[in-house]
Amino acid sequence: MMQQSLISYECINAIGNSLNLDEMLRDVISTFIRQTGASGGQFVSQGVNGKSIVTIGETFTIPNLINNIDSYEIIVLAERGFVLDIPMIEEHFLFLFKSDENLDTLGNMFSNFRTKLINSIDACRMAEQCSEMTLSLTKEINKNKINEEIMISQSRMAVMGEMISMIAHQWRQPITIIGMLINNTILDVELGEIDNEKILEDLTSMDEQVHYLSKTIDDFRHFFRPNKLLQNIKVSDVSRELLNMIGKNLESNKISFSFEGDLNDEFYSYKNELLQVFLNILSNSRDAFLEKNIEFPQIIFTTNVKKDEILFSIQDNAGGISKDIIDQVFDLYFTTKSKEIGTGLGLYMSQIIIEKHLHGSIKVASDSNKTVFYIKIPNIDNAGVNHVY
Ligand SMILES: Nc1ncnc2c1ncn2[C@@H]1O[C@H](COP(=O)(O)OP(=O)(O)OP(=O)(O)O)[C@@H](O)[C@H]1O
Ligand SMILES: [Mg+2]
Repeated sequence: MMQQSLISYECINAIGNSLNLDEMLRDVISTFIRQTGASGGQFVSQGVNGKSIVTIGETFTIPNLINNIDSYEIIVLAERGFVLDIPMIEEHFLFLFKSDENLDTLGNMFSNFRTKLINSIDACRMAEQCSEMTLSLTKEINKNKINEEIMISQSRMAVMGEMISMIAHQWRQPITIIGMLINNTILDVELGEIDNEKILEDLTSMDEQVHYLSKTIDDFRHFFRPNKLLQNIKVSDVSRELLNMIGKNLESNKISFSFEGDLNDEFYSYKNELLQVFLNILSNSRDAFLEKNIEFPQIIFTTNVKKDEILFSIQDNAGGISKDIIDQVFDLYFTTKSKEIGTGLGLYMSQIIIEKHLHGSIKVASDSNKTVFYIKIPNIDNAGVNHVY
């Protein structure tokens, strides 16, 4: 009696010690073998060719395992001994003994653990499923992160291509002026009409143009420098940098650009990210003007710095966005342009930047004449908290 309760105590203690199924089953079978003197033990699936999941000690096979018994069964295995078969729901514990002495007692004892064993096996399988799910979720999250990063850089590349053509526009005029001044001076020297005052004046003009060239390149360089720092931004900086980057391009397409808002206002945000969004929207307006051939093309950019938020609106009169597609303009890869001009990344990225990075909102409204993009971002101070006065 004493012996039996000790065996029972040891066996029950071995159940559920691990959430790893293989480990847990090994623990149970080896404890049972140790305590009962069985020569081998197995945990197998049922059916004609029951597959062994775990085997410890002497191996043996039971040809046809079916689950038609409630508690346990003793199977005679010719010339090998006796097998104690304890069925779980769809599997069996099998233990091989040389004699059938005490097998009924052991069978009853083991049957008493059935519910606990079934629960522990279930728990192990659930833990396995959970960790598989976590693994695939983590993989999915990482995949999304990588995709987002690829897209951000794809969109930066697209903006970069756009920038190069803008730099060309910005530089055309000053380079023409410098060239003209140099030619004038050469001509004066050749004609022997050297007027020191005039030469000084021309050289000063050239110097101004060179300054302008180097200033534009600085603006572009700063734009591409990774800038994740919250910075104090003056509305006048936004207007100046936008004009420096896209002004000449708009001008050469005869698009009037007006800026409304208090240029002295200041706010905190991430300047390059904001500029990237504005440039995406302004380039779209320019493309729409080029496509539609509007008589008096006009873009109005407004800023309104409030206590706890900043509102921007960018309006064009380029003929609007049709009702059929307006709900899709922020979708990834949605474009109505040819492959050479559009990738459909501009507004998608703009929405990610405004909503995910700057925690604001971006909306579009349009009729048959005009399109307005509304952007709202929180006004945060340099400690990263909202301004509340
Ligand atoms: N101001 C606008 N007027 C008319 N249509 C617009 C305007 N802004 C956006 N759209 C429409 O929204 C679509 C999506 O714009 P989005 O900037 O995301 O992509 P894209 O300009 O086509 O390509 P990408 O910006 O990647 O070069 C455009 O193809 C265009 O049809
Ligand atoms: Mg675009």
